[in-house]
Amino acid sequence: MLVDSHCHIDFPDYADGAAPLLANMRVAGVGHALCVSVDLERFPNVLALAEAHPNIFASVGVHPDHQDCEEPTVERLLDLARHPKVVAIGETGLDYYRLPREAVDWQRERFRTHIRAARQAGKPLIVHTRSAADDTLAIMREEAAGEAGGVMHCFTESWQVARAALDLGFYIAFSGIVTFKSAAALREVARQVPLDRLLVETDSPYLAPVPYRGKRNEPAYVRHVAELIADLRGVPVKAVDEATTENFFRLFGSAKRT
Ligand code: NI
Repeated sequence: MLVDSHCHIDFPDYADGAAPLLANMRVAGVGHALCVSVDLERFPNVLALAEAHPNIFASVGVHPDHQDCEEPTVERLLDLARHPKVVAIGETGLDYYRLPREAVDWQRERFRTHIRAARQAGKPLIVHTRSAADDTLAIMREEAAGEAGGVMHCFTESWQVARAALDLGFYIAFSGIVTFKSAAALREVARQVPLDRLLVETDSPYLAPVPYRGKRNEPAYVRHVAELIADLRGVPVKAVDEATTENFFRLFGSAKRT
């Protein structure tokens, strides 16, 4: 059984509800999924899914791309993270893809807030980084993010960045991007990450893996990410299932298996 370690099944893309997603997960051998918060306005929907379904977990955090929304404080995140189904803080991090570095002091402050909350809550971080790897790692070191631990989600960086995150005690999660034809360099990174530090995810509704590329993604499709990684590493897919599921429950220690 696999775990989809990062999805957004609370998004309006899933107007037909969670039932078909859960049914497809069962068929694909995907036992659990972590529904990741992107802002506090939508957090109640994330939590409602986790409360309704024993095998869905929640996180709490505000995405670095979300600007016109409630700015989280450490206290606010800690308060929301007290819920037993909230197993992580995030997603958080830095994203200089849309806005230049000089324009986003607020992103760096917000990232620090999340790291402080994660350390105090004793819950791991879900880190998003895009066009900002050096600053992301620098802030993680300055704020002792390793004390909280966490995952570099939807990883698309170099082996050097992966190595630095592994050295901080972080896990590395690969999404459907590894199945894309253009992602040869990323596949090489996915081949090298130690099996006991690897996670798989969909980032649904985005980034559907081949053969669904361009369509709406869903947690069941994490099966295709796992198959590709097993193939790359020359191991049975069962080994990837077992390792990534063990890793998930080790990292997200408050998540209970169903
Ligand atoms: Ni995400």
